[in-house]
Amino acid sequence: MEGIVFEKLNSLGALLEPLNPFKVAVLTNTTVRDIWLEEVLDSISEYEVHPIIIPDGEKYKDLETARYVWEKLIKIGFTRKSLLIGLGGGVITDIAGFVASTYMRGTLLGLIPTTLLAQVDAAIGGKTGINFHGKNMIGTFYLPNFVLIDIMTLSTLPMVEVLNGLAEVVKYAILDREVYEILTRISSPQEAIKSEELIRKSVEVKVRVVEEDLRESGKRRILNLGHTVGHAIEKLSGYKIKHGFAVSVGLVVASKLGERLYGFDSGKVYELLKKFGLPINLPFEPSKVLEAMKLDKKAWYGKIVFIIPVKIGEVVIEEVPESLVLEVLREVRE
Ligand SMILES: NC(=O)c1ccc[n+]([C@@H]2O[C@H](COP(=O)([O-])OP(=O)(O)OC[C@H]3O[C@@H](n4cnc5c(N)ncnc54)[C@H](O)[C@@H]3O)[C@@H](O)[C@H]2O)c1
Repeated sequence: MEGIVFEKLNSLGALLEPLNPFKVAVLTNTTVRDIWLEEVLDSISEYEVHPIIIPDGEKYKDLETARYVWEKLIKIGFTRKSLLIGLGGGVITDIAGFVASTYMRGTLLGLIPTTLLAQVDAAIGGKTGINFHGKNMIGTFYLPNFVLIDIMTLSTLPMVEVLNGLAEVVKYAILDREVYEILTRISSPQEAIKSEELIRKSVEVKVRVVEEDLRESGKRRILNLGHTVGHAIEKLSGYKIKHGFAVSVGLVVASKLGERLYGFDSGKVYELLKKFGLPINLPFEPSKVLEAMKLDKKAWYGKIVFIIPVKIGEVVIEEVPESLVLEVLREVRE
């Protein structure tokens, strides 16, 4: 958890002190600018700060935007000892990380994630990237100097974005008993985003896994729990179904496989997802989902590999026969 702090936005100044940046640039989008930028700027007013604003949306996580930000940094005389801060959701933290890691071979980087998904996932673990002929095709591994998590920023998040992040939190609940127990005590999405304990513990799970395996050769794969089917659903929907909603159904499928193979109690996962109003049924034909899964870059050599819960707090990584996958997909079909 080194470098990850749970504090108010106005404590940003104190985080900058040890870094002593030459200049500071704050990358954000038009939506987050209107809500949270002023508070951030107020807390670092003693520095030379340059806001860099980009339009809102996943489609701007591209090379054009990276180029735009590089150009801005050159124009303001940004150096390797300058600090780029990414203030926003996962789109912003991914671009900020990518630009910071490539500009002059690496500048100082700070992330202030303002969506639940970015707080528990995108801003944690050092993966950066932009979309290029496909999602996250170009990217780097680059750890930020700090991640500042202020859960107050989630108070302005639209409900759909809260749910999008909450699916990942349910994933952590399957991976970790402590997160599971906290989540069982929480009764609504609104309550979830007020629980610093829940967010902190979720972050801890990701940090623990990533620290053991920064470059995703082995253990980090367990974070793909629910994503084998999740990615397929996202793809089949032409990315109209949001990541978290797709992962939610993926968690159901993985849990059902766990039930068949290891006696996992899938009811526990159903209960959590239903309580928060996350989807639990497959929105596409099982055979189509199977085909899409085989094409996924995270499937190994065309084999379908699942992260399968054995019990809360324990998963295995396993190739599953197509026939069993199809059977379970049919069970969860709408
Ligand atoms: N690097 C990683 O390890 C990693 C992991 C998971 C996801 N990601 C990436 O993260 C991105 C998705 O992130 P996301 O779900 O945060 O989407 P996002 O960044 O598009 O944010 C979702 C929406 O919420 C708005 N928003 C952000 N903060 C807000 C606030 N506090 N109040 C009101 N509105 C706010 C944004 O402007 C946007 O419209 C994807 O590009 C994905 O690839 C990266």
